[in-house]
Amino acid sequence: MQVTVVGTGYVGLVAGACFADTGNDVVCLDTDASKVERLKRSEIPIYEPGLSDLVSRGQREGRLKFTTSYAEALDRAEIIFLAVGTPGLPSGEPNLEYLKAASESIGTHLKRSVIVVNKSTVPIGSYQVVKEWIESKSKYSVEVVSNPEFLKEGSAIDDFLRPDRVVIGTDKVEAFEKMAELYAPFVRQGNPILHMDVVSAEMTKYACNAFLATRISFMNELARLCESVGGDIESIRRGMATDQRIGKHFLYAGLGYGGSCFPKDVRALADSAKKRGLALEIVEATDRANQEQARFFFKKISRHFKDELKGKKIGVLGLAFKPNTDDMREAPALVLIESLLEAGAQVIAFDPVSMNEAKKTLGDRITYGKNAYDVSAGVDAVALCTEWNEFRQLDWPRFKQAMKSPAFFDGRNQYDPLKMKSHGFEYFAIGRSV
Ligand SMILES: NC(=O)c1ccc[n+]([C@@H]2O[C@H](COP(=O)([O-])OP(=O)(O)OC[C@H]3O[C@@H](n4cnc5c(N)ncnc54)[C@H](O)[C@@H]3O)[C@@H](O)[C@H]2O)c1
Repeated sequence: MQVTVVGTGYVGLVAGACFADTGNDVVCLDTDASKVERLKRSEIPIYEPGLSDLVSRGQREGRLKFTTSYAEALDRAEIIFLAVGTPGLPSGEPNLEYLKAASESIGTHLKRSVIVVNKSTVPIGSYQVVKEWIESKSKYSVEVVSNPEFLKEGSAIDDFLRPDRVVIGTDKVEAFEKMAELYAPFVRQGNPILHMDVVSAEMTKYACNAFLATRISFMNELARLCESVGGDIESIRRGMATDQRIGKHFLYAGLGYGGSCFPKDVRALADSAKKRGLALEIVEATDRANQEQARFFFKKISRHFKDELKGKKIGVLGLAFKPNTDDMREAPALVLIESLLEAGAQVIAFDPVSMNEAKKTLGDRITYGKNAYDVSAGVDAVALCTEWNEFRQLDWPRFKQAMKSPAFFDGRNQYDPLKMKSHGFEYFAIGRSV
């Protein structure tokens, strides 16, 4: 099939590379000319395991092309995917300016009636708006299908090639059949392609993210209670996770969720309801609890220093919003670091892949280590913000020896409290009795 992907970020690039890998002719379009230039040279602008090989292979075999030209990208397109960003506005509403610009450009350059697939996460009912935007610039009609993306950064390729399910929202049987054909190679082990109406498909994406975020916020609230009553959230998590009705995923207490999806999607779902005169109380509470969790972690550190952080030096291990990505969007580490700086502390941080991204926000307001041990040198405390594999078994005697005072704040509950204590740390986790 002739596939065009508009927007070559985390989602668009992965989707384009995977569709090319199953034999389709794919053109990926982005308005960011420097990104496209790098991609033409097979340089991957993001950190995503396995992506580089897939992109190079697609290019080498002539099935994957990159361009900034809508005319070129739409020349032979049968299916056009929209994968531009939909970041949250301060009101919680998603910013649709990129989606509008992309839709209008598609309309302007359209050469035939096509299927346009919304892969961006969009407010409920957007398919209608996208159709209007495109058709306002074109004499051709389009069928707008919703096909939300569920990949996780860090395991995006695997998630895309072997999805739990594919959701396709359309009222048109022919559009569904074409989409099902495109996705057939990814569901050969029997995982379902779910056909539903467009509104339900759009809402399924928000429902999944809000539900997973709710599980995290629920555990974070219980963790705070644990600290008052003396319970251990890790024991409670295990007690819950072994209950088959509950399952084991997304039950980890920590310093709060972040990333480009959960925070904005939770707020967007609440905003969709608000606009229709409804309140999604649980969803709104999930967001509030998450914001409180980041403050809670900072207050824990501040309290340790009797709220006198001025002049203290704090080491931060991990910056990305989660391991195996360089994505810093709404990373909890940023919230912590901003609070520390505001309180007058100095910060030294290290992350294996996201320091260049972090510098775009933090610049030279903090210093950056070359490895994990650098963040321990002469510091008053260390805070773990991202649980990278390489931090799991550090040389603790060496690490502790370099610190000025051995306070360790584990924002991800990664370490055994007793072991950390036996190494001589004053160890603080989230909702854990030490
Ligand atoms: N990142 C994820 O893990 C993830 C997972 C599932 C769904 N989503 C959703 O997918 C969408 C894309 O997310 P992302 O993380 O890939 O975003 P991103 O910011 O990484 O990429 C978006 C790309 O779109 C390009 N762009 C902007 N305006 C354009 C235009 N008019 N024409 C062509 N290109 C344009 C940008 O230059 C950028 O490269 C969002 O709606 C997001 O919520 C993201």
